[in-house]
Amino acid sequence: MDRIRITGGKRLNGSIPIAGAKNATLPLMIASLLTDQTLVLDNVPRLADVGLLQRILGNHGVDIMVSGKRPGETQYDGQTLHISAANIVDTTAPYELVSRMRASFWVIAPLLARMGEARVSMPGGCAIGTRPVDLLIMALDNLGAEIEIDRGYVVARARNGLKGGKISFPKVTVGGTHTAVMAASIASGTTVIENAAREPEIGDVADCLNKMGARISGAGSSRIVIEGVSKLGGARHRVLPDRIETGTYAMAVAMAGGEVVLENARPELLQAAFDVLGQAGVEITPTNAGVRVARNGAGLAPVQVTTSPFPGFPTDLQAQLMALMTRAKGISHITETIFENRFMHVQELVRLGARITLNGERATIEGVETLKGAPVMATDLRASVSLVIAALAAEGETIVNRVYHLDRGFERLEDKLAGCGAAIERLSG
Ligand code: EPZ
Repeated sequence: MDRIRITGGKRLNGSIPIAGAKNATLPLMIASLLTDQTLVLDNVPRLADVGLLQRILGNHGVDIMVSGKRPGETQYDGQTLHISAANIVDTTAPYELVSRMRASFWVIAPLLARMGEARVSMPGGCAIGTRPVDLLIMALDNLGAEIEIDRGYVVARARNGLKGGKISFPKVTVGGTHTAVMAASIASGTTVIENAAREPEIGDVADCLNKMGARISGAGSSRIVIEGVSKLGGARHRVLPDRIETGTYAMAVAMAGGEVVLENARPELLQAAFDVLGQAGVEITPTNAGVRVARNGAGLAPVQVTTSPFPGFPTDLQAQLMALMTRAKGISHITETIFENRFMHVQELVRLGARITLNGERATIEGVETLKGAPVMATDLRASVSLVIAALAAEGETIVNRVYHLDRGFERLEDKLAGCGAAIERLSG
């Protein structure tokens, strides 16, 4: 199993290209199941999760062609996928595949809406929380689907197609909103979604669906209205930049010190995180190329943060911020409200010399002068990169084990950081 070795203490200078967003790419690829025409997606990141979803869609009969490299393209330019779901040959998504990537459960929406039936394995447990799918099932039920649970599978039927209806989520759910929007786009009649998720990825999927002929308004707000249409066509869509990758590298620069331009980054997609970094004493400056992040000399100030749905502080940056605050001059508090078990990185950061105590969903981080390198274990995608951020400032060498977690959501991380001066390398096998 690959590991990553980091020797801390190097400042970061230069530029890092931000890739397309994983959490937009996955639902966009799944949306291709809604049409028999070709969907072309540009700026698709090269990630393990994208590769796995290509396999899962292939299982349903979807053809995916990856465009070759065009002249002048660098290894950091996103790939282009030509996705054709002209013939869906199977409406079952098996446990072996769904259990490896929860978001693949969302295939239930386009399969049910287009084919009138879907049999999708329940995703099962997850390191960061129980993560049930009851609200996704509720949404489909509200659109007239007959649903039963059969030996670990959700079996959904809508022989006469789905019918527009009202969906009011008791809590904000990104997956629930994607599911409802996709299913309602080719249901007959009007659907109104209330307390919808407002994450930028929801808006990106709705933009793409509207290019395919859907009639969606209000995406990005908490009330979305969908006029169902009988059929969707093909389209070409560019995936928006990854705000979580952007925030992660901004915190890496803040931790190591230095000055880096995050190319393609869009500051408005993560204003809450940039506000917190500003409070901590980090310079964030929008530029034509993206965003310049700098911390020269001045230490880090402690912060008080609570994660919440967009436009609040994203839970997917919580671990990275915690790593950063281990070296702040004072005491920080971070409260995690989205997932009940998203502190797996705490004991690993403590191994590097951090002072962190937990009280339920609240972490108290007492800043220390120095961290010291040590072997640590990655447990999930965002926790693993928080260990990399801590190691950038730790004295000596850190070995991060199980980096397959990282590869799920960060494209060429060690190359991007090494390109800015970090002493980081991958140790294969
Ligand atoms: C999406 O997960 C993201 N994944 C997550 O990113 C992200 O952390 C999360 O949204 C919150 O922003 C993708 O986009 C692929 P939710 P999702 O439904 O849709 C509860 C990463 O690191 N809930 O918004 O699964 C749930 O347990 C990943 O890239 C129910 O109770 O998250 C959680 O407490 C990790 N019932 C809360 O709602 C349901 O039916 C929010 O979950 C659905 C969710």
